[in-house]
Amino acid sequence: MNPDILKVLYSQDDIHAITARLGAELKRDYAGKNPLVVCILKGAIMFMTDLVREIDDYMELDFMDVSSYGDATESSGEVKIIKDLDASVKDRNVLIVEDIVDTGRTLKYLTDIFKTRQAKSVRICALMDKPEGRVVDVQADYVGTTVPNEFVVGYGLDYAERYRNLPYIGVLKPEVYAAKS
Ligand code: XMP
Ligand code: MG
Repeated sequence: MNPDILKVLYSQDDIHAITARLGAELKRDYAGKNPLVVCILKGAIMFMTDLVREIDDYMELDFMDVSSYGDATESSGEVKIIKDLDASVKDRNVLIVEDIVDTGRTLKYLTDIFKTRQAKSVRICALMDKPEGRVVDVQADYVGTTVPNEFVVGYGLDYAERYRNLPYIGVLKPEVYAAKS
């Protein structure tokens, strides 16, 4: 295990069970709908690639990069588009794939944008939900698991751009944050 990790919250097997369950739900709900699946970079990259491989139906994949965080572990409250979609969402069934819903600001911002751009439907699939962090009223339509109000890393999620490559999700040792600040 990576020496900076205090404890593993979700192992590779745990994560696979989650993506398999969500994939089956999505396969059922999006049958015949040719969804535009939007991966929110960079945190959702691992989740999205595992999730869509559970669904052997027609869909299109696109990527969007938004930022609200920088290197801090608390939301700045601002959301900005770093990379927009290639595809048009007009009249499409958009499925946003996100790593974690915390304050809810990112997803509120994205759902509002896609509705303004006249998407036919907009739903959210989030690997993790941190309900205690919520500032804005948003609810993911599909949730992998609910997590406590702790900062988590691994499986796409970073602290200062590190740990995205870890195949599990865990919590960092407190001294790792101390060393940075
Ligand atoms: P909001 O607050 O807009 O945040 O719901 C969503 C984005 O914040 C990041 N985030 C985290 N990233 N560990 C991370 O690595 C966490 O525990 C965490 N909580 C929120 C994440 O990028 C998400 O897209
Ligand atoms: Mg992040």
